[in-house]
Amino acid sequence: MNPLKVALLGCGTVGGAVLRLVAEQAADLTARVGRPVEIAGVAVRRPDRHPEVPAHLLTTDALGLVTRDDVDLVVEVIGGIEPARSLILAAIEAGKSVVSANKALLAEDGVALHAAAAKAGVDLYYEASVAGAIPLLRPLRESLAGDQIRRVVGIVNGTTNYILSRMAETGAGFSEALAEATELGYAEADPTADVDGFDAAAKGAILASLAFHSAVTAADVHREGIASVTATDVARAAEIGCTVKLLAICERVPGEEGESVAVRVHPAMIPTSHPLAAVGGAFNAVFVEAEAAGQLMFYGQGAGGEPTASAVLGDLVAVARNRVAGAAGAGPSAYADLPARPIAETPTRYHVSLDVADVPGVLATVATEFARHEVSIATVRQDGHGDAATLVIVTHSAPDAALSATIAALREVPAVRGVTSVLRVEGLS
Ligand SMILES: NC(=O)c1ccc[n+]([C@@H]2O[C@H](COP(=O)([O-])OP(=O)(O)OC[C@H]3O[C@@H](n4cnc5c(N)ncnc54)[C@H](OP(=O)(O)O)[C@@H]3O)[C@@H](O)[C@H]2O)c1
Repeated sequence: MNPLKVALLGCGTVGGAVLRLVAEQAADLTARVGRPVEIAGVAVRRPDRHPEVPAHLLTTDALGLVTRDDVDLVVEVIGGIEPARSLILAAIEAGKSVVSANKALLAEDGVALHAAAAKAGVDLYYEASVAGAIPLLRPLRESLAGDQIRRVVGIVNGTTNYILSRMAETGAGFSEALAEATELGYAEADPTADVDGFDAAAKGAILASLAFHSAVTAADVHREGIASVTATDVARAAEIGCTVKLLAICERVPGEEGESVAVRVHPAMIPTSHPLAAVGGAFNAVFVEAEAAGQLMFYGQGAGGEPTASAVLGDLVAVARNRVAGAAGAGPSAYADLPARPIAETPTRYHVSLDVADVPGVLATVATEFARHEVSIATVRQDGHGDAATLVIVTHSAPDAALSATIAALREVPAVRGVTSVLRVEGLS
């Protein structure tokens, strides 16, 4: 049997594990695919750093490798936008199916890449790009293809989940928890992509595109990171039976002019009874609500060489089987073409905690500000009195712009000494 030949682009954390697993599982892969799967070459930047790769496989000429006549399939685990995009496009144009783990690229340019793959009649699969090992994109694209997905809410970034989990467990502030995460290898030396929510936003765009059959890019996603989450926020969350998580929330939102898609990434309080609240450490989980299926939850390791390589290999087997069958699988559809809804119009709930002066009428003054901006209050609690009086308010759902305007107005009220904690709340009944 002629082997199917694979070009491996990148041999770092993920690529190294892919290379190892392809060798270790050669016999099983052959049986599952119907033909042997063989690595034809490995493209890296610095070949001298890769003693683990047989020398005859190593190259720095990634473009030459992907366009080689004897290469059937390409696995891209370089990451970033360029040269990954040009290499994937070159591979597709040369008739090779592609497996990628590249969330940044798929979230920025998925539409063009899918169009190129459809035109060339090849596959473009990227299960590993969202939530590492967790089978998620295929269930959204295939298993739920007959259902209507209403909402996808995920913890899709392990670094920030680790930091927030440690803040909740130890009472530490953000900087302290970040330093610990860095020391233990859960955070990169430059944690910006994780901490500021860029990584989760890219994943949110990919999830929303598949869930709602619409082209959603990272630019459509409202993004807030966790650097401003304080120990006080986490403590306030605990007081109302909640915990703080960085969530990627993708929703189908009804409106007067038809449905739209709202995708946002921000820290939020969620009740400790919510299944996502129990997701601790660097784990990922994604909660899906569909019309007929009801509630589903996907949980597991969202990163790491082997877990991510598991998802890459799953895709590799799928595209290899298609190649053996002489076909390409159906790509994702964007027929619904739902527009992206700006965050200002997206309904959210807030938890607000205020230090207030102990003067008559302060509660009425605060309530007036909420009413003036048409934000309805669900609960109010006053803690302490005298100089230590605190008002804790949870609102009903209101457009985000109205809630932001209320907070801005409260900061100007003389009786409000300080707005000590403002966080969105999700999943409260
Ligand atoms: N790490 C994870 O846990 C994880 C999880 C899910 C998804 N992903 C995604 O998987 C992809 C790879 O991540 P990673 O963590 O494995 O990255 P990594 O450890 O930094 O490895 C990147 C690899 O790409 C090679 N490379 C960089 N520029 C190149 C170029 N111009 N030509 C050829 N090779 C080049 C590097 O070569 P040298 O080794 O010679 O420098 C290295 O082998 C990214 O898209 C990432 O988002 C990673």
